[in-house]
Amino acid sequence: MTDPDTVLPTISARERPAGAPGGWSRREFIKGVIASSATVSSVSYFGAGCAAPLPAQTGGVERLLSLQVNGQTRRVDVAPNETLATTLRYKLGLTGTKIGCNRAECGACTVLIDDMNHYACSTLTHRVRDKEITTVEGLESADGTLHPVQQAFIDELGPQCGFCTPGQVMSAVALLRSNPNPTRAEAQRAMSGNLCRCGAYDHYLNGVMRAAGATTMTASVDGGEG
Ligand code: FES
Ligand code: FES
Repeated sequence: MTDPDTVLPTISARERPAGAPGGWSRREFIKGVIASSATVSSVSYFGAGCAAPLPAQTGGVERLLSLQVNGQTRRVDVAPNETLATTLRYKLGLTGTKIGCNRAECGACTVLIDDMNHYACSTLTHRVRDKEITTVEGLESADGTLHPVQQAFIDELGPQCGFCTPGQVMSAVALLRSNPNPTRAEAQRAMSGNLCRCGAYDHYLNGVMRAAGATTMTASVDGGEG
């Protein structure tokens, strides 16, 4: 029969508690997992891409947060080492935010935090408790009209498989909020953190420039009416 200690080979000797020469017992391991509110599967999940999980908190961390997401206050129970991508997708049901690499390389998880684009897979949710978070679900207007960037991406045939599209949209929106009339080179640079396995970069870039034109036209119309 398998010794329970042999199924925990990833815990190094220096992490073993004093007085446990043979390593962690199964009971100690389970107690540790419960204390850190992490499941066995999520330990390997986080270990796959993000920084190592924080050590178990003993001082008491306020886990119930009020997050500002898409203009709403959302109360949610968040583990200390939980990423924003996990909270959005698996706690709040906002699955438009994708997880690709889960290590700050692909941009699929891009969301806006106070109007700046950030990788949600590499952002701890507890760090953004006082920020305004916008996901792709928060872009369209109440009557269902798409954001100009979303519409422009459709018009320019940006989405191929579509997996990278939400992240592309969020980076484009962040760009146009800070620079409503970018040059093509500026747009290219701003979108460089979003990878597309389908290689639709030119389509997305065309979409950004089309949306910039729409945004500029809208701004000038608004200005004329004001
Ligand atoms: S999933 Fe976050 S950058 Fe790839
Ligand atoms: S459209 Fe398929 S990964 Fe970009």
